[in-house]
Amino acid sequence: MVNIDGKICWGEEGRISVLDHGFLFGDSVYEVVRTRGGRLFCFPEHLERLRYSAEKIGLRLPLEGEGWRREIRAMLEWSGLEVDVYIRLIATRGVGELSLNPFSCVRPSYILIVAPLPVYPRRYYTEGCRVELTGVVQPFYGGGGSNIKSGNYLHHVLALREAKRVGAVEGIMRNVEGYITEGSTSNIFFVRGGILRTPALRCGILAGITRGLVLELAEGLGIATEEVEVGVEDLFAAEEVFITSTTKDIMPVGRIGERRWGVGPLTRRLMEAFEAGVERHLMEI
Ligand SMILES: Cc1ncc(COP(=O)(O)O)c(C=O)c1O
Repeated sequence: MVNIDGKICWGEEGRISVLDHGFLFGDSVYEVVRTRGGRLFCFPEHLERLRYSAEKIGLRLPLEGEGWRREIRAMLEWSGLEVDVYIRLIATRGVGELSLNPFSCVRPSYILIVAPLPVYPRRYYTEGCRVELTGVVQPFYGGGGSNIKSGNYLHHVLALREAKRVGAVEGIMRNVEGYITEGSTSNIFFVRGGILRTPALRCGILAGITRGLVLELAEGLGIATEEVEVGVEDLFAAEEVFITSTTKDIMPVGRIGERRWGVGPLTRRLMEAFEAGVERHLMEI
């Protein structure tokens, strides 16, 4: 279901103007939040990242934190949905001239999309999923901090396209220096010599909320972590690999190209700790 500037309807009936710069140029920011047992997971962290993204592109958010929550509540009441959901919060530049000029757009718009959560096959978690190392070079809009979660996802789409063509669930990108960055909608971790490593924010990645939780959990478990530049050879020399995202949680990687892995002991420990720690990050809608 869709909510456009406060008007709720079923997905296919939702309409925005073709002159909205979000549609024309990907001039928008967004977040994907999920519920667990009917409660919002890591909601303050997602709002914080939405504010960061909006600030980086000079977009005034049309709703504040409580406003987004109120709209979510209204949508769930409207639908009567009782399953756990995926919630996409979008703020677009709005309608303007048929030029890139963001100052021609007078009023930003907000859009929420609520849908049942995607369900991944159980075996992805028990045996590992297949991921593809793609040829996509990812742009970095972050400028100092982490990347912006904008509506401009063409590189990510192309990475996922490469992955899907070989039957993989996720496509990994690199930055202009050739270092590994992230998946189309996930962050990547690997274990070598007992150390958990993941690309540093300066490599041009999104500061994944799940990534942050995993780093915190690892610290709590006494596992050494490093946020570093990761070369392709580091990845292939790893003993364990996994990806993380809001909809996937911690998903072990069983294969990249012809290199195969099982679900390693450290990945298992983190998956268990993640499950056990979920409760602390839940809030009523
Ligand atoms: C490019 C990219 N990297 C990483 C992630 C994972 O972030 P999170 O754990 O906050 O869902 C996402 C989420 O969609 C993403 O789009």
